[in-house]
Amino acid sequence: MPCDDWPYCRCYKRRTILGLLLAQLLAGSARAEEGEAAKPPAPDDRFAFLTGPKKGQAVRAEDLALGGPQVQAYPMAPDGTVRSDNRLNLVILARFDPAALTDETRARAADGVVAYSAICTHQGCPVNMWSKERNAFVCSCHASIFDPRNAAEVIDGPAPRPLAALGLKLKDGVVTVASTFSGHVGVTQN
Ligand code: FES
Repeated sequence: MPCDDWPYCRCYKRRTILGLLLAQLLAGSARAEEGEAAKPPAPDDRFAFLTGPKKGQAVRAEDLALGGPQVQAYPMAPDGTVRSDNRLNLVILARFDPAALTDETRARAADGVVAYSAICTHQGCPVNMWSKERNAFVCSCHASIFDPRNAAEVIDGPAPRPLAALGLKLKDGVVTVASTFSGHVGVTQN
């Protein structure tokens, strides 16, 4: 259609160009968010220590103290990309006597090593503390307590659900993802 009303036409064209630029920007940011470092843990990922003397190195079963506490780590893709662009990917790992695990937890564990989402199901804080008395994970924000031997069930506090769990396997002693998260990670929006 010819554009007879030139001021309107110029304005329309400007808005069209701005719209296209915005669409390209949004598409670009969507692509960035879809990058390897933002994707959730996938089978054959390893785990990179978040902190400590082995920060960035792959977690091995022998690195984990038998009976806790947990360590924090991000999944690491087979190409070495650490999936730390999404905080929902933060994971806690711990090792126990396999005989101490419930059947459900033992089925997901690898030689007693368990892995759960570190994101609390109450308000999304990282579950970064350990209770020696309860032998369990503790969220430092409002003291929810999760049982690592029993599918991270909530044993105290306001968290409404267990932490999502990952299935694991060992590859030459390196803790490796066998299956994706068992459920929703973090807070559920109603
Ligand atoms: S955010 Fe974890 S108990 Fe509230």
